[in-house]
Amino acid sequence: MTRTVYVNGEYLPETEAKVSIFDRGFLFADAVYEVTSILDGKLIDFEGHAVRLDRSLKELDMASPCTKDELLEIHRKLVELNAIEEGLVYLQVSRGSDGDRDFVFPSADTKPTLVLFTQNKPGLADSAAAKKGAKVISIEDIRWGRRDIKTVQLLYPSMGKMMAKAAGCDDAWLIEDGHVTEGTSNNAYFVKGNTIVTRPLSKDILHGITRKAVLRMAEEAQMKVEERLFTIDEAKEADEAFTTSASAFVMPVVEIDGQQLGDGTPGPISKRLREIYLEESRAAAI
Ligand code: PDD
Repeated sequence: MTRTVYVNGEYLPETEAKVSIFDRGFLFADAVYEVTSILDGKLIDFEGHAVRLDRSLKELDMASPCTKDELLEIHRKLVELNAIEEGLVYLQVSRGSDGDRDFVFPSADTKPTLVLFTQNKPGLADSAAAKKGAKVISIEDIRWGRRDIKTVQLLYPSMGKMMAKAAGCDDAWLIEDGHVTEGTSNNAYFVKGNTIVTRPLSKDILHGITRKAVLRMAEEAQMKVEERLFTIDEAKEADEAFTTSASAFVMPVVEIDGQQLGDGTPGPISKRLREIYLEESRAAAI
């Protein structure tokens, strides 16, 4: 089935959608994005993603392409037109194009480019990968210093996934100054006893929408949460570990740098948090 996508006010078959070769997203990675998951044909935490998008745009002095209500309508229409039951909506806003390549930002009246498309992912919730758990390697974090802004500068995360793949693993955790920042496309956690440890929010990591929800749910379930810096060695000695993201929810981690965690299967706290997250998110989906 040809997808229907959205580009600057129009719903088009994906083969007909066009963006200028001078678009600053294409030439300078001068663009921000959001990924919102869909379960039962409904959007998970749309509000959180809309608020973070607004923050990313403001931090980069980029114009907002439309209102939150309009964004919600576009998301819903794409989900409907593409008959998505489980999957993702990808949204990207770039600073647009003024018809040439110039490092200097174009004039403030240049229209931002707004693109959205869906990804159909049947089985996203009942995922075989989550049942097995992920194997991760650790690599140096050489990304820029504003990882709290969700920009499309994803070359290094992409290289990180390739390094993991080459090592027979699923993903990479990033290390800066001896501490884990996050995963290539997710936030990172380990569990020791009844305590969940994750890095505190700062400019060093993306302020995950799933992270916020999962930490709230963990506290409601009487689990202890510690937001502090941690080393990869601490994580390797943990009882369990997991990551969170809109695209994989709560993903158990069963091996770090070749060291098996626990019995090498997803741990009970990670599994429980995945269940709670899916259940509560489905109930609150719009
Ligand atoms: N990635 N950290 C990074 C570096 C990320 O790219 C992501 C999300 C997260 C988790 O954020 P959230 O819970 O809001 O999805 C953390 C998306 C899913 C992606 O790039 O596809």
